[in-house]
Amino acid sequence: MNITLNHITKKYGDKTVLNIEQFDIKAGIVTGIIGPNGSGKSTLMKIIAGLDNEYTGALLIEGQKINNEIYKAMTLVFQKPYLINTDVYNNIAYPLKLRNIAADEIKSKTEKMIELLQLQEIMHQNARTLSGGEMQKVALARAIVFEPKLLLLDEPTSNIDPQTMQLMENAIRYINHINHTTVVLVTHNIRQLHRVCSQAVFMQEGKVAEQGSVSEILAKVNEDYTGDFLEQELSTKIK
Ligand SMILES: Nc1ncnc2c1ncn2[C@@H]1O[C@H](COP(=O)(O)OP(=O)(O)OP(=O)(O)O)[C@@H](O)[C@H]1O
Ligand SMILES: [Mg+2]
Repeated sequence: MNITLNHITKKYGDKTVLNIEQFDIKAGIVTGIIGPNGSGKSTLMKIIAGLDNEYTGALLIEGQKINNEIYKAMTLVFQKPYLINTDVYNNIAYPLKLRNIAADEIKSKTEKMIELLQLQEIMHQNARTLSGGEMQKVALARAIVFEPKLLLLDEPTSNIDPQTMQLMENAIRYINHINHTTVVLVTHNIRQLHRVCSQAVFMQEGKVAEQGSVSEILAKVNEDYTGDFLEQELSTKIK
């Protein structure tokens, strides 16, 4: 799904937290969003997801304002996911049940996700009792099981161990590949940006400061600022 933003501004009181003149996200690819804390990444994701309507400007998805059909074809995964008070299997099956999918298809698609994210051992455990990382895996499985056209991921792999991160990145690439899902991924992990994304956006103080290919963005982004940002990022990942 193509996303077009025109003159989007968002304020909290007198404080402008988002001020985007023009910005397009291309369909069918994985776009990464990077930028410092408080630069407006999560605010932007919630607006695109249709969860925050208190802004000015125009947001178009596939050339249209968000309607029910578009809303049903997209999903946002938060850093701290909300899971329902039932077991892992039924959490993953839930979006399919909502969409009235046939029982045998629900079973095969849910089982595929359990295999893809290696959730076999916890599939009958109540989702509310899972560890943080397990919850994030389940949230990703639940987000991709219905083959969304637009997948919005807000730091889905923060506090995730390297093996699990690899599983989750594979799952993101998988859904993009088999379903041409448009993916927008907010991350502070530059290596993840390289591994998963083809395009990237650098946000700063509520603005889209740079956009282009991942390597262009990393080369362009002002060293005065990102020197520290990148260094810190790499050193946390290396240890
Ligand atoms: N409900 C709110 N009331 C007032 N200010 C808010 C509110 N929600 C967010 N903000 C402010 O909006 C700005 C952008 O926040 P946002 O969560 O989008 O940043 P972010 O880029 O996602 O940061 P991080 O990397 O820490 O997740 C911040 O300055 C934040 O303090
Ligand atoms: Mg955020």
